[in-house]
Amino acid sequence: MDKRRQYAEAVQTLKNLLSDEEDAIAMMATISCELKHSFDTFSWVGFYRVVKPGLLKVGPYQGSHGCIDISLDRGVCGKCASEGRTQIVQDVQKIPYHVACSSETMSEIVVPIFDAEKALIAVLDIDSNLKECFDEVDKYYLKKICSMF
Ligand code: SME
Repeated sequence: MDKRRQYAEAVQTLKNLLSDEEDAIAMMATISCELKHSFDTFSWVGFYRVVKPGLLKVGPYQGSHGCIDISLDRGVCGKCASEGRTQIVQDVQKIPYHVACSSETMSEIVVPIFDAEKALIAVLDIDSNLKECFDEVDKYYLKKICSMF
């Protein structure tokens, strides 16, 4: 199926499931599940939460074990959190600051999540075992999903 259509269906499912939900952890768990099961190319889908200044801690995810803590000066997640901007990495082997939770990961996208006061609360991290898995289409729909918080 076309990637845009797959995302449009996932967004609709998530809107139906989460329209009245206010609990961030329940939302993260539901989004991880929906995205991981909608896209065969995603090997890991999950969240890292801002738990104190300078520190991200793993939240709900689907896939093999993720790292527990990531400081803001490390990893693609840390870069996304400190810059407040989506990161797309086409080949993680070319990025020296990449934190490898799985040696099979080849590419990844990380999207920041802000609350109503525009404070960063978490990042959404998606990994793939394929190189160059993510592009502007992923960024567009994942930003839409991250704006549900
Ligand atoms: N690769 C991420 C770390 C998290 S794992 O991929 C689940 C990073 O470089 O921040």
